[in-house]
Amino acid sequence: MSQVTDILQNLDYGVAPESAQLADDWLNEHGRTFGHYIGGQWVAADTTFATINPATGTELAQIGQGTEATVNQAVEAAGVAFGTWNSLPGAERAKYLYAIARQIQKHARLFAVLESMDNGKPIRETRDVDVPLVARHFYYHAGWATLAEEEYPHHGPVGVCGQIIPWNFPLLMLAWKIAPALAMGNTVVLKPAEFTSLTALLFAEICQRVGVPKGVVNIITGDGETGKALVAHPNVDKIAFTGSTEVGKHIRRSTAGSHKKLSLELGGKSPYIVFDDADMDAAVEGLVDAIWFNQGQVCCAGSRLLVQESIAEEFYARVRRRMAQLRVGDPLDKATDIGAVVDTTQLERIHQLVEQGVAEGAEKFQPECTLPAQGCFYPPTLLTGVEPASTVAQVEIFGPVLVAMTFRTPSEAVALANNTIYGLAGTIFSQNLDIAHDVAAQIKAGVIWINGTNFFDASVGFGGYKESGFGREGGREGLEEYLVRDLPTAEAPRLPVIDPLPDVDPDIDRTHKLYIGGKQVRTDSGYSLSLPLATGGMADISRGNRKDIRNAVEAAEAAAAGWASTTAFTRAQILYYLAENMQGARHQLVESLTARGQQSAEKEFDATIHRVLHWAAWADKYEGTVHQPPLRAMVYTRPEPLGVVGIINPAAPALLGFIGACLPAIAMGNAMVAVPSAHNPLPALELFRIIEASDIPAGVWNIVTGLPEELESTLAGHDGVMALWHFGESAAQAKAELESAGNLKQMWTPSGPLDWHTTPSTEWLRRSTQVKNIWVPYGA
Ligand code: NAI
Repeated sequence: MSQVTDILQNLDYGVAPESAQLADDWLNEHGRTFGHYIGGQWVAADTTFATINPATGTELAQIGQGTEATVNQAVEAAGVAFGTWNSLPGAERAKYLYAIARQIQKHARLFAVLESMDNGKPIRETRDVDVPLVARHFYYHAGWATLAEEEYPHHGPVGVCGQIIPWNFPLLMLAWKIAPALAMGNTVVLKPAEFTSLTALLFAEICQRVGVPKGVVNIITGDGETGKALVAHPNVDKIAFTGSTEVGKHIRRSTAGSHKKLSLELGGKSPYIVFDDADMDAAVEGLVDAIWFNQGQVCCAGSRLLVQESIAEEFYARVRRRMAQLRVGDPLDKATDIGAVVDTTQLERIHQLVEQGVAEGAEKFQPECTLPAQGCFYPPTLLTGVEPASTVAQVEIFGPVLVAMTFRTPSEAVALANNTIYGLAGTIFSQNLDIAHDVAAQIKAGVIWINGTNFFDASVGFGGYKESGFGREGGREGLEEYLVRDLPTAEAPRLPVIDPLPDVDPDIDRTHKLYIGGKQVRTDSGYSLSLPLATGGMADISRGNRKDIRNAVEAAEAAAAGWASTTAFTRAQILYYLAENMQGARHQLVESLTARGQQSAEKEFDATIHRVLHWAAWADKYEGTVHQPPLRAMVYTRPEPLGVVGIINPAAPALLGFIGACLPAIAMGNAMVAVPSAHNPLPALELFRIIEASDIPAGVWNIVTGLPEELESTLAGHDGVMALWHFGESAAQAKAELESAGNLKQMWTPSGPLDWHTTPSTEWLRRSTQVKNIWVPYGA
């Protein structure tokens, strides 16, 4: 008779296939050919392409290839629907969102099976993760539709939103985009990825069924060309994109100067850090979710394993043992862990990158497993002995491939974790919560999971730092991407700017200097500019150049981390002290305004002092929050500084505009490179001494005078600058946006001159920070 232990030894799963019948029936009902869903109707497509089941290689259906005419038609339908949809009371909009959520739940099985067939991901994931999260997103945002007027009184919807999504979470990404957009009163044109259009089309049918007003939701299908046309359409007010960093940069460039609101959720190479005191079993199990969930085709996949050296070998051994248990195969089998990769192109890319990793010295481990004879399957893979600078450690592989490195100390772990152009997510396993929270604060990424991984919820914002993009999806942060806040504007005074025909000043000592790294320094060029004064004389100011900007950025980079970790209370005190010192220099500051003919200099000075006090007061009050997602976890948010912020200041008001723009960013812990007013830089020059005397650390506030047109390109193109606020002319703003795409810096280019005298809103603080969400699961 067999012993229980023998049975356990030989225990194997039987196959547990989910039936494809429901999805096949639905596809057959549609003759396996789909057009676009525009203005509440199905519009036949002129040309179509095949969508393939990657697990079998068989064609599922023909999908419409959207053209420019398709895009025009859809954007027009969304534009027509916008007025009515936006003027519906929020509670009315909520009813539609609730109805959608219910229909998703009602048809959960069809959605799950269809998604699994179209994408290749295991049914267990679509059934237990994707579809329930989709329903949750619509329920959660239905609530926000009801509360929008109460919670966002000075806001309005953006308008027509063009939404472009990837193939890795087709239905979930649709929900992340459509639910908040509709809740806030926008209308949408959404384009799913060409590999995975089916669940978006089923979703369109749901919208039709629940009577979502015509034109509020439009689904057009097609490839990158369709996406490009949508991005370029002049009547689209916002682009929300999730996909590759490369396309994200393309979109940044093509929307430059259009004043389209933009949110980009791009790639990642997220660290998964295991300290020597971690619960190793939990950390191994977490890793299964981090890198083998959805075949590793997850933007926030924990694809870089960083293990503390002392436990590395043991940990790798455990990981290898666990890998051998992973079941690769039919996605519709409920016992499958790893399904099919989305397409042959993606499979080839994974294969090539792994081989490159091996060629660069990595050691490859793949467990023995029989892959299905057909379809796009790739075995779970571990690469050890990887150098931090090697290709596989830096490039997003987007497949079931884990690369591993070791570290010795927490600070080494942080340095390795941040050694990437990306900043989407990070995971930390340690039983020592002191270390875990400290490391969480230091990792430059939008989401951190402690002792768990890959948790998501509608109430918690998701999105990246650095080249992982900007903007958030989920939570309040996500709502704000679909709202515009009124910024008071003013009449633009026509002001003469600095004489663009400069003299070379032989007597450089008479020239005002630049303020870099806490010191007054001469400009690299040795050139100066003559500024005619109201009294008839001339002031000579330094004509900064690109080298000066680079020096200033370097100084700011060196100061940024220290200032960011200075307590908010201390920053507040320093800004109060700045106000006091400015008050003491009232005479000189007023004179610096009148020198260029300013009539109401006293009034502007008083308003400026008020503004310093205003931002000093906010410095320690713009705080995070704690979310309550529906699981045993708390999630706390940290609004963190961006790093180095560049500011092209408005021409006027010279003092109030300068202080009004720089101080919120400084109050929030950013370091700054500021180019003062092109009309009157004199007040900024007066500030050098005052800043010096005010305990603002050297390098936090750098000021470079000169011709903005000679300086702004260097700021816009500099990879060390994480955000650029441009308060100049619209042509210059557009150019700066174009040049900012290299490191995807966050741009702020308000159209039209702002009214600097009105008390500013917290929009300034929102712009000065990026939200990090830190998940901490708990349980005895
Ligand atoms: P992709 O970025 O090309 O495609 C994403 C979406 O953008 C699709 O809907 C596509 O049709 C559309 N698109 C493509 N070119 C466009 C353009 N010029 N303008 C507007 N829309 C455009 O991603 P792809 O080629 O499918 O995957 C390539 C790599 O991108 C992957 O290997 C992975 O590394 C990364 N990726 C990252 C994702 C993420 O969630 N972070 C999702 C998908 C891909």
